[in-house]
Amino acid sequence: MSLLQRVLVSVSAAFILFVLYANADAEVDDKCLGCLCEAATQCNTTALCQKPTRNGYFCGPFQISWAYWVDAGKPVILHDRPEKKGAFENCANDKICAAKVVRQYMKNFAKEPEKGDCNGDGKVDCIDFAYMHRLGGYSCKDPSMINTTFYQRFHSCWQVVQAALPKNLS
Ligand SMILES: *[C@@H]1O[C@H](CO)[C@@H](O)[C@H](O)[C@H]1NC(C)=O
Ligand SMILES: *[C@@H]1O[C@H](CO)[C@@H](O)[C@H](O)[C@H]1NC(C)=O
Repeated sequence: MSLLQRVLVSVSAAFILFVLYANADAEVDDKCLGCLCEAATQCNTTALCQKPTRNGYFCGPFQISWAYWVDAGKPVILHDRPEKKGAFENCANDKICAAKVVRQYMKNFAKEPEKGDCNGDGKVDCIDFAYMHRLGGYSCKDPSMINTTFYQRFHSCWQVVQAALPKNLS
């Protein structure tokens, strides 16, 4: 699948999500969500938990950490409970639940521009969400972010969807 096809597939999944959670704030829009999972795993929905370093543990298509899940308010899949063993993995490995985690995580930081404007361009947008996703909302103002593979994948995805989507979807 090409990058654009993958993003379109995840955008349509995100659109269903948007309908399901239409009353939730939608600061992280569907295009943004698509590029965040593209950056994390190239939107690999069968990507499971990985332990790349001794202290790191990341799960699912968005490669979410346990602390990130906690900060997002511990969303769970249907019939699961936040305190149950495996609730984090079950959610992070589920495309729909993981997308909810990302939206809720960003909501905490997007409200406060002084925290959320990670790249210092005066606004909080998807580029800042990419910083927060990778670096955490509390420590997102690190300029060396632009040299990470994550950011480079995000950046090319973001350019592709911004150029392509208005024509394709309208
Ligand atoms: C997705 O991730 C799984 C598990 O890490 C891996 O085996 C598979 O090759 C990946 N698929 C793609 C398309 O990268
Ligand atoms: C990114 O990497 C280049 C080449 O290694 C380096 O010159 C530059 O300072 C880096 N930028 C940041 C913001 O770290």
